[in-house]
Amino acid sequence: MSVAATDNARKVTVHTLENMAHKGEKISMITAYDYSMAKLVDASNIDVILVGDSAANVMAGYTTTLPITLEEMIYHAKSVVRAVKHAMVVVDMPFGTYQGNSKMALQSAITIMKETQANAIKLEGGKEVVESISRILSAGIPVMGHLGLTPQSINKFGTFAVRATGNDEAERLIEDAKALEEVGCFSVVLEKIPAMLAKRVSEELTIPTIGIGAGKYTDGQVLVLHDMLGITQDFSPRFLRRYHSLGDEIRSAVSQYSSDVKSGSFPNDNEQY
Ligand code: KIV
Repeated sequence: MSVAATDNARKVTVHTLENMAHKGEKISMITAYDYSMAKLVDASNIDVILVGDSAANVMAGYTTTLPITLEEMIYHAKSVVRAVKHAMVVVDMPFGTYQGNSKMALQSAITIMKETQANAIKLEGGKEVVESISRILSAGIPVMGHLGLTPQSINKFGTFAVRATGNDEAERLIEDAKALEEVGCFSVVLEKIPAMLAKRVSEELTIPTIGIGAGKYTDGQVLVLHDMLGITQDFSPRFLRRYHSLGDEIRSAVSQYSSDVKSGSFPNDNEQY
């Protein structure tokens, strides 16, 4: 068996996720956008790394995910793929690269897969994107869906509040989730919806559901890396568990460095040639 084949055997695939969900094993997913972080994340027993279009927020400082381009997503995804040996890498299709028509969607998905060598793409929406998903799948590209709070539609929603709290929207979401499973998505992200609705969707689908702000009944969870590490400090929704205050630690380390430079204590005699 070649080295490449051996590496592949350890890689998480859509079948790994399917098996995990069947066995009731929870799926862990987290975002990454660059080589160094992706390398650390991949060494941390994570199943799926999402090169999310949240890169627009946490890497580029935009207030929405809308401005990020296909080229920018490809740059982030290439950096992540170079670092990752184990986790499955999923890349978000950015706003405006798939909503136009299914031909455009297929072309964008092919460009992402060809240039990044990622393992799958994710896109937002329900029945309205089923035709595009079908065409992408026909090219052999695995597709992850995304329902509930879909940030690319923020201008339609007008707010980042919890979605589908009313019966009509909840029923529509269930229909959309079924349509995504039927067309062939291997998984679906459920963002910021009531836990009991996410439970119902997870019970009605056979493909794994991955929740963010959707409670404990989904087959897996996803968080934005910079949020859970406490690097982004101005975003504290109820669903976010902070595992570290890295922002404070970075500020303190950099201030110490700056003060050492100014006092002349860095570099010392051992830190020079
Ligand atoms: O872009 C992103 O980070 C996402 C997750 C919030 C699911 O889509």
